[in-house]
Amino acid sequence: MIAIGCDHGGYALKQEVMKHLEERHLPYKDFGCDSEESTDYPIYARSVARAVVSGECDRGILICGTGIGISIAANKVKGIRCALCGDCFSAEATRLHNDANVLAMGGRVVGPSLALKIVDTFLDTPFSGEERHRRRIDLIEES
Ligand code: RB5
Repeated sequence: MIAIGCDHGGYALKQEVMKHLEERHLPYKDFGCDSEESTDYPIYARSVARAVVSGECDRGILICGTGIGISIAANKVKGIRCALCGDCFSAEATRLHNDANVLAMGGRVVGPSLALKIVDTFLDTPFSGEERHRRRIDLIEES
């Protein structure tokens, strides 16, 4: 199960991402928001982050205007490793190296075609499991 959330700046792209997940038959839970009316991104970051750390959802996707605010907010939740990605190389690397459990994107930064490729790369790339990466993730989790 994928947790997905956005603010008003990410609403349009979230609609595209949800349609794409449906086409891929990937189940998701939408934590809002539900329109382009101005709202506060930490609300949705927290809901998605909590769904992931609780185990209710396996991964999360968060979208705000830039992806910055919503990723900062998500990373305040212990156990969340939220990666802001604007390219497929970063999306692949953050799964291989950081075992990122939440993807953030900027709805005003990336176009829908690139965003969907970033989503696919993030969802389809496993963690490498290499010892040096595990060690670094453990150090993050200790802090
Ligand atoms: C909202 O206008 C905007 O500040 C928000 O979507 C995001 O870009 C914040 O980092």
